[in-house]
Amino acid sequence: MELETTDILATVKQLEKENRILRKKLERSETTCRELEQTNHKKENLLRQIIKDLESSQREVKEKRQLEQTLSELKRTQAQLVHAEKMSSLGQLVAGVAHEINNPVNFIHGNLTYIEEYSQDLLNVVQLYQHHYPNPVVEIQEQADAIDLDFLQEDLLKIVNSMKIGTDRIRNIVLSLRTFSRMDEAEFKLVDIHECLDSTLLILQHRLKKKQDYPEIRVMRKYGNLPLVNCYAGQLNQVLMNILVNAIDAIEELNANSKVQETKENSGQITILTSAVDREWVQIKIADTGVGMPESIQKQIFNPFFTTKPIGKGTGMGMAISYQIITETHGGKLTCCSTPGSGAEFTIEIPVRRQCSSQL
Ligand SMILES: Nc1ncnc2c1ncn2[C@@H]1O[C@H](COP(=O)(O)OP(=O)(O)OP(=O)(O)O)[C@@H](O)[C@H]1O
Ligand SMILES: [Mg+2]
Repeated sequence: MELETTDILATVKQLEKENRILRKKLERSETTCRELEQTNHKKENLLRQIIKDLESSQREVKEKRQLEQTLSELKRTQAQLVHAEKMSSLGQLVAGVAHEINNPVNFIHGNLTYIEEYSQDLLNVVQLYQHHYPNPVVEIQEQADAIDLDFLQEDLLKIVNSMKIGTDRIRNIVLSLRTFSRMDEAEFKLVDIHECLDSTLLILQHRLKKKQDYPEIRVMRKYGNLPLVNCYAGQLNQVLMNILVNAIDAIEELNANSKVQETKENSGQITILTSAVDREWVQIKIADTGVGMPESIQKQIFNPFFTTKPIGKGTGMGMAISYQIITETHGGKLTCCSTPGSGAEFTIEIPVRRQCSSQL
């Protein structure tokens, strides 16, 4: 019985010991657990901070992108404004010059009819004198010989006639200058596209003419039967001008790269072909025999600021503005196809009866 009690006491002691050990272990694991919780908490905070930082940097990137976009839009608008201003000043200058030339030329042209009439009358009188007094006094005979009266009579009316042709030509030029400037036509109205082409070509005449070492750039006009087209004449002139100037530049670039002899034999050419596609659309094709462009350049020509020309020569806005005028303002199409070395061809298609949309 006594032995049993001793055994039980020993077991209880043993159990108490184990209990203490277990409690210590429990305490230790509780501490570890608390420590782990603390570390977790710190990590969580850290993660939250990282997420916050990420979000704010994402916002910054987005804002930066938006700023960049706004900046490039601003640049584009500025360049468009400068270009539009340039075209408008050119228009004003042309209209001003045309106006100044118009009055004196009309004055000369109007008086030429009287000069012709008076000259004819005087010649008739001289002929009457010659008929009735075939042998005038010596002094008159000498004077008639000195001025070569027979030749004078023959030549006088011819001169008046060629003066008339000259003033007619100037009057046509003035008319074309006025058509080109279209200062009075900022609205949507029915326009003769051939008139626009002719007046634009006239403005560019000085660039087409023969120059030292370079022959004249020939222009072939293959005009079809076109109806009047509803559009902004001033803006259409601007597009034609941009395309034609580029064509001249491309031909000059080819000429500059060729040997003089080759250039002399093979001068550049611009071909303008107009046609009615159907009752609703008209088409203008402008082809040149200039340097042409590879696919990689063709893809970019309508992008604002894209230029392959030296600094100061091109702004790279001509085609971008033309594209906008044709597609957005006139609801048309502007395309280009080209092979390097074989020139380029631009095709404008515009609807004949489009109603006015927002202006540039
Ligand atoms: N007919 C063409 N032949 C060859 N390349 C052309 C022709 N037309 C346009 N390009 C190319 O397209 C580019 C862009 O033309 P765009 O008219 O927009 O600008 P630009 O002529 O360089 O400058 P600008 O703003 O003064 O017109 C040109 O630099 C040129 O490389
Ligand atoms: Mg250009």
